[in-house]
Amino acid sequence: MLRVGIVGAGFMGTTHAASIVELDNAKLVGFYDLITEKSEKLSKRFGGKVFKTADELFKESDVVVLAIPPTERKEYYERLIELEKAIFAEKPVFRNLEDAIWLEEKLSKKTVPFMVGHVVRYFPEFFKLKEEYLKGTLGEISMIRSARVGSIPQWADWFRKFSLSGGVILDLAIHDIDFWAWMLGPVDSIRAVSNSFSENIETDHCIVVMKFKNGAVAHIEGGWSYPTAAPFKYSYEVVGTKNTISFDSLKNHTIVSYRDGIKLLHPTFINPYKMMMKDFLNAVEEERPVPIKPEDGIRSLKLALKAIESAKSGETISNVEG
Ligand SMILES: NC(=O)c1ccc[n+]([C@@H]2O[C@H](COP(=O)([O-])OP(=O)(O)OC[C@H]3O[C@@H](n4cnc5c(N)ncnc54)[C@H](O)[C@@H]3O)[C@@H](O)[C@H]2O)c1
Repeated sequence: MLRVGIVGAGFMGTTHAASIVELDNAKLVGFYDLITEKSEKLSKRFGGKVFKTADELFKESDVVVLAIPPTERKEYYERLIELEKAIFAEKPVFRNLEDAIWLEEKLSKKTVPFMVGHVVRYFPEFFKLKEEYLKGTLGEISMIRSARVGSIPQWADWFRKFSLSGGVILDLAIHDIDFWAWMLGPVDSIRAVSNSFSENIETDHCIVVMKFKNGAVAHIEGGWSYPTAAPFKYSYEVVGTKNTISFDSLKNHTIVSYRDGIKLLHPTFINPYKMMMKDFLNAVEEERPVPIKPEDGIRSLKLALKAIESAKSGETISNVEG
């Protein structure tokens, strides 16, 4: 049985606690948050103790989930690596490149299970797409269009500060940047536009175009610009030499496939957050490599930061991955 502690009793702390209490091989130890009342609220809902310091929580945990903003992680990463505790870190793994390089260096000296929560890899429609791609039913991919849009998160103010969240590219479009880069391999160039650089990024919106070394082009839309009344939605269209498939979260989570006439694929619904946590904890328990390694999270952070650099300079960034 793994003892799991959570730092950060906000939106994602709640999501991960809900998964952990449903897993057979995990025991939720409790919560540490700068705001004790937030820990108390989650402790009442899910069980587990309220810790007054992070160190007390670490002492009683085998695994620690860091569900806090990316600028708040350094001290905790350092301490947890020193203590050789397994770490689950929310995406993005950090806010800045210098910190990511520091983390790479730290982890090169110790073997600590460390997973980054790029949960879209567990979304059923994305999982199914990757499966079809690996089976070869799509052929060579020439074009991908994906979108992930809604209003800016309403539950916390730090998202509105570019210096803390990195705006819509680093906080939201990174999901698609990570998934397409994972599926299609090395990235050749990146060009992006966004509204990330004003004081008020309430209506931040971006288009990121990634060209892959294998010739595929992905255009990714990320949006916080919708009014709160509009539903959050995400979609993709993938064009390959043998098939085209598309999916829209507002249309019943069904994938439309055009090979041999129109076919509808219905991937089995799974809770992607629970699947991700289960996969991670099983790997820790069985002492196997974790499914989403720190280098994956660092790679996606670097790609998203390149997109931000392009959006700021108006230039295309070439030779992105060698
Ligand atoms: N994968 C997803 O679907 C998804 C969705 C939302 C957020 N996220 C990511 O999860 C992370 C957390 O976001 P959130 O929405 O849960 O934020 P949040 O603001 O809801 O929660 C963060 C919590 O951390 C606490 N906190 C802040 N600094 C702290 C510190 N130094 N020590 C201890 N507690 C501290 C805050 O008091 C707050 O309760 C971010 O990296 C975000 O990008 C992922």
